[in-house]
Amino acid sequence: MLNLKESGTLKILDKVKSMQSKGVDVIQLDVGEPDFDTPRNIVEAAHRAMLEGFTHYTPSAGIPELRDAVAEKLRSENGLDVRRENVLITPGSKQALFYAVMALVDEGEEVVVPTPAWPSYIEMVTVAGGTVREVPPKDGFSPDIEGIRSAVNERTKLMILNSPNNPTGYVYSQEELRALAEIASDSRVYVLSDEIYERILYEGESRSFGSIPGVEDLVITVNGFSKTYAMTGWRIGYAAGPRDVIAAMNKLQQHSASCPASFVQKAALAALSPETPVRPMIEEFRRRRDFLCGALNRIGAFRVEKPRGAFYLFPEITLAGIDSVQMCNLLLEEAHVSTTPGEAFGGFSRNIRISYANSMEKLEEAVSRIEGALRKKG
Ligand SMILES: Cc1ncc(COP(=O)(O)O)c(C=O)c1O
Repeated sequence: MLNLKESGTLKILDKVKSMQSKGVDVIQLDVGEPDFDTPRNIVEAAHRAMLEGFTHYTPSAGIPELRDAVAEKLRSENGLDVRRENVLITPGSKQALFYAVMALVDEGEEVVVPTPAWPSYIEMVTVAGGTVREVPPKDGFSPDIEGIRSAVNERTKLMILNSPNNPTGYVYSQEELRALAEIASDSRVYVLSDEIYERILYEGESRSFGSIPGVEDLVITVNGFSKTYAMTGWRIGYAAGPRDVIAAMNKLQQHSASCPASFVQKAALAALSPETPVRPMIEEFRRRRDFLCGALNRIGAFRVEKPRGAFYLFPEITLAGIDSVQMCNLLLEEAHVSTTPGEAFGGFSRNIRISYANSMEKLEEAVSRIEGALRKKG
């Protein structure tokens, strides 16, 4: 526990909360949480389930109809060869990632993580007693394939990939996925593919890693409902992978959470139906991405390219003499806008993460405040 780091984002959040408690109007661009309400058909399904008394324990791996629906989604949309036995429903995808790391990584084993990366991966590996080998990108945010190849050794058990990526919004190309699959299959390394942002995609396609031929028995695909369906507070996600790995993860679930909340599983089943209005949310995210990229490049203190997915920007700070922690503090203290230092995602001290999962009105106000604060600084 002493080796475990507190979440870097929480430090900022503590400061935000304390400012807010003093009545300061902080625009929060640090949290990765869609501002939309959960679509009505999903809420109604949960409500109905509760009124019908569906409020007790369920099978630990999840209700059969939801496991089947997830398997069907993964077969038809993602090209994965999975059945009910390959699927585990979990309280949030974070829990699925945690189980997978705990099930696969033993004391002294290594895990390769291309960076920038979501900070929790590293801490999960620390809990399991493993060591992370971080591999920074080579050009822009594309993964350094050769760097990853040379980071893999006889102690490597797992590689954790996340595309579309948090914090960069980068989406791996087909060539990159194929090259990574070759590394995994040559070295028989498991791959945890975090695809939580798969539907938040503005251009091109985002292929599921497990659909690349040759790695079918090595990939654990993780996805969830938080981001696509604005369901962060419901805590529901899933993993799909080889039966033995899923069975091991289910044992961890049996002895910790027992099962995900019963009526939330019914809500998740409704979310997967084609009637859920996902498209309007994606189009709104696209509008915000376009606005924010243009505005940040115009301000002059940042440089950013339009990412293809997720709802984050990871702009480079072009202003001399200020690192990511100082920039985030400046934006918070002078502009009352909260962002996350790039430090938190693998030591990117020249970048900050900005989430645009906030309303257009708030984004416009944030940009004008940031501009004002930077002008004042000179
Ligand atoms: C990359 C990534 N994976 C997983 C999660 C966890 O999502 P959930 O709410 O399903 O636990 C997040 C949430 O911020 C995320 O950004």
